[in-house]
Parts: sequence; structure tokens; C-alpha cells
Amino acid sequence: MTTLHPDVESVLFSEEDIAQIVKRMGEQISRDYAGKDLVLIAVLRGAVVFMGDLMRAIDVPLSIDFMAVSSYGANAKSSGIVRIVKDLDMDIKGRDVLIVEDILDSGLTLKYLMQNLSNRGPASLEVATFLWKDVEGKQAAIDPKYVGTHCPDAFVVGYGLDYAEHYRNLPYVGILKPEVYS
Ligand code: IMP
Ligand code: MG
Repeated sequence: MTTLHPDVESVLFSEEDIAQIVKRMGEQISRDYAGKDLVLIAVLRGAVVFMGDLMRAIDVPLSIDFMAVSSYGANAKSSGIVRIVKDLDMDIKGRDVLIVEDILDSGLTLKYLMQNLSNRGPASLEVATFLWKDVEGKQAAIDPKYVGTHCPDAFVVGYGLDYAEHYRNLPYVGILKPEVYS
């Protein structure tokens, strides 16, 4: 059993839960992309852990690439105004692009990215997100094709997700104790 980090209130998804979810997503993606020209694009840095697992759960040929974006403004909440800090190395024209994300909250970051990437003429463009945060009264700005699981409207860390660049290496997804960030 993994010991719980003292800053974590409770575990939402254990390593075993995560493995099952990723396996299911990998099977689904493998079926849908058979015979296609799949490129997985992970958004740095949070999606790196999920990307590493997901790519190994997919058994059709694929390439990977990375992008890094930063939101304008000091606000922790997503504004949807995004600057590309690191662009793709690859040309995605005519290829089947799947953006890999750790968590979908407002969806504003991904909406911007999808608009940007669709201008480069991919054959197809979809999103695979590990978590989708349920926020009451709010609808995400994009509709992801592949969703690992929904999560409650709390601040979650682990499995790539950070708070102030910490906790990304926790092997589970947990709810951060509010006293840590308030
Ligand atoms: P969106 O543009 O509001 O969908 O923001 C999504 C991004 O915000 C994710 O890629 C994460 O980097 C970050 N984020 C949103 N919620 C959480 C959370 O609960 N924990 C850690 N990061 C989060
Ligand atoms: Mg992110």
C-alpha cells in the first residue's frame, strides 16, 4: 500500500484505479485509430505521467510530441488567453492528432489549443483527458472524445497534477488539504 502524503486529505483514484482507467482508454483509442496516422500531443507538464502510461496502453503505431503553454495573467484560474511556450517539433498536416491532457476544468486552455492546431490542417483532432472536473452550473468549453473519469470540484494533485509544482510524482490522485493552499 502506498503511504498517504501528509498534505493529501484523501485518495480519489488509486494506482489500481488509474491502471484500469488507462487500460480501457488505450483499448478504445487502439480500436478507433487502427489504420490511421496517430500523433499524441501532450500538454506539458501535467500530462506527462498520463502520456507515459497511455502510449503504452495503445497498440497501434503512433508518434508523440509535446507543447507547453502558459496562461497570461497572474490569476490561477484559466483565462483562455494562452501563450505557446514550446511549440510542436512535428508537422501535423494530414495526421490524426490526439491531444493528451491531465485534467479538463473550464476547457479554455484546450479550446485555444484546438483552434491553434486545427489551423495546421490535421486530418482529425480530438482530446483525451484523464480527468474531467464536474463544476456545478458550468459547462466545459470543449467536448473531449475520451475521458478517463470525472472528478469532484476540488483541488486534486498527483499523477502529474501539481500545486505550485509539487506533488506531480504521487502515484495516485488525491484531494489536497485546503489549508495547504489557503
Ligand atoms: P482549464 O483551462 O480551466 O480547463 O484548465 C486546465 C488546467 O488547469 C489543467 O491542465 C491543469 O494544469 C490545471 N488544473 C485545473 N484543475 C486542477 C486541479 O484540481 N489540480 C491541478 N491542476 C489543475
Ligand atoms: Mg495542464
